[in-house]
Amino acid sequence: MTLATAADSASRLVRVLVLHGANLNMLGIRELGVYGKITLFQINRRLRSLGNDLGVDVVDFQSNHEGALIDRLHRAHKEEDGVVFNPGAFTHYSYALHDAVKSIRPPVVEVHLSDIRYRELWRRKSVIAPACIRQISGRGIESYLEGLRHVAGRIRGEC
Ligand code: DQA
Repeated sequence: MTLATAADSASRLVRVLVLHGANLNMLGIRELGVYGKITLFQINRRLRSLGNDLGVDVVDFQSNHEGALIDRLHRAHKEEDGVVFNPGAFTHYSYALHDAVKSIRPPVVEVHLSDIRYRELWRRKSVIAPACIRQISGRGIESYLEGLRHVAGRIRGEC
C-alpha cells in the first residue's frame, strides 16, 4: 500500500467517518415519498455492519450546523482515513464545506439517498462534489453502502 493512512501510525483498523448534514436526523419522518421510511439509526447500523465485513471501523456524526460539519471534517484530517458525506441541502450552496473537504487528507465520497439529478433545478448542482473523489446519488441506502465500499477501496489503494 502506498497511501499513508492514520491507521498506519496508530496500528489500528482503518477508520471511516460517515457524516450526515442538515435534516438527515429527520429521516423516517420527513418526505417519506422521497426518502422512504428508513431512519438515520438504521442507516448507521447497516454501515457499521458493512464496516465489520470490510474490516473498517465506522464512526458517524450528524449535524444541522455548517460550522459543526466543518469542524468534524477538520477533526477527520487527524482521526479518520476516509469520509462518506451526505451534506443534505448544504450540497447545493456551501462553498465553506467544499473548502473544508479540500483542506483535509482523507478522501471524501459524496452520497445522496435521492437522485439529485432528477429533482428541482436548484438541487441538480453540487458545489461540494468537485472536491470529492466520487458522487453517488439516487440509490437509497445503497448510495451510502457503495460510498463506504468505494472509500475503503481507495484507502487500500485499490481504486
Ligand atoms: C439529500 C438531497 C438534498 O438535496 C436534500 O437537501 C437532502 C437529502 C439526499 O440524500 O437525497 O437533505 O442529500
